[in-house]
Amino acid sequence: MKDVPASEIRAVLELAREVKGAPERYASALAGRNLLMLFQKTSTRTRLSFELGIQELGGRAVVMDWSKSNFAISPIRYEARYVSRHAHAIMARLLRHADVQELARWAHVPVINGCCERYHPTQALADLLTVYERCGTFDGVTIAYVGVHNNVANCLTAGATKVGARVILITPEVNPSSWDEELMRAARETGRLEVTLDPHAVRRADFVYTDTWVDMEHFNDPAYADEKARRMNRMMPYQLNRELLDGHRPFIMHDMPIHPGLEIAEDLIECDHSLIYEQAENRLHAEKALLLRLLGAA
Ligand code: CP
Repeated sequence: MKDVPASEIRAVLELAREVKGAPERYASALAGRNLLMLFQKTSTRTRLSFELGIQELGGRAVVMDWSKSNFAISPIRYEARYVSRHAHAIMARLLRHADVQELARWAHVPVINGCCERYHPTQALADLLTVYERCGTFDGVTIAYVGVHNNVANCLTAGATKVGARVILITPEVNPSSWDEELMRAARETGRLEVTLDPHAVRRADFVYTDTWVDMEHFNDPAYADEKARRMNRMMPYQLNRELLDGHRPFIMHDMPIHPGLEIAEDLIECDHSLIYEQAENRLHAEKALLLRLLGAA
């Protein structure tokens, strides 16, 4: 999201709409192609959408748990070179962005970041697709993100400001390992980014987005319990709920998994202006478009 031009993001979104509308036209577009899916972290959506996505395009997926593979005991370089002999693309959900970059450096095939501590670009593609489907444009559209500044906030900010939407970031806490000054500077330079600590700014948005206050790898970690408790205290005034919205009815977004009663009140999750499941479903369509473009089959 940080490096690709707006035209490329738009091209993926247009193709995603086309693929979503007529999936049968692409049913064998990636026949004979293999996608290696590498996981160091848990997943529901990323796993399901990429695995089904490549299959729906006629290709195959191989899912590999990093800790049960020999990526765990050998330099990434050699394993990356080997798997490139069989895989036509790699989707990797790794803990560290540096390792995703190392994988991309040595692999001979495209490497897709399936969420690291800094970025979650395929989530942002699905998010932008969801907004675009609703509005048919990004011009004049305002998306507020309320929560902890994390990997999701980074890619949403970079992608949305690039394609023409306005973004309001309401993020009193920052995941230190997620912060990317260069990305934020570029977003500010578009003139479409506002940063505020006022949670009531959600009332000025067409779409209000929130995400977990604690990253997935820490959520059930006893060693992180004190920091988790501190964040819950700090973030509670920023919970997305009806009181905060005060009668305003923006579209509600969340990338899932959800923690009801923490970052979002339970009654908003399935309210009639929630797009949460559409957003999650759009992972599949956006990722199919991405695979088609990366593998030259668009
Ligand atoms: N939003 C998202 O990436 O979901 P998973 O962690 O379940 O893959």
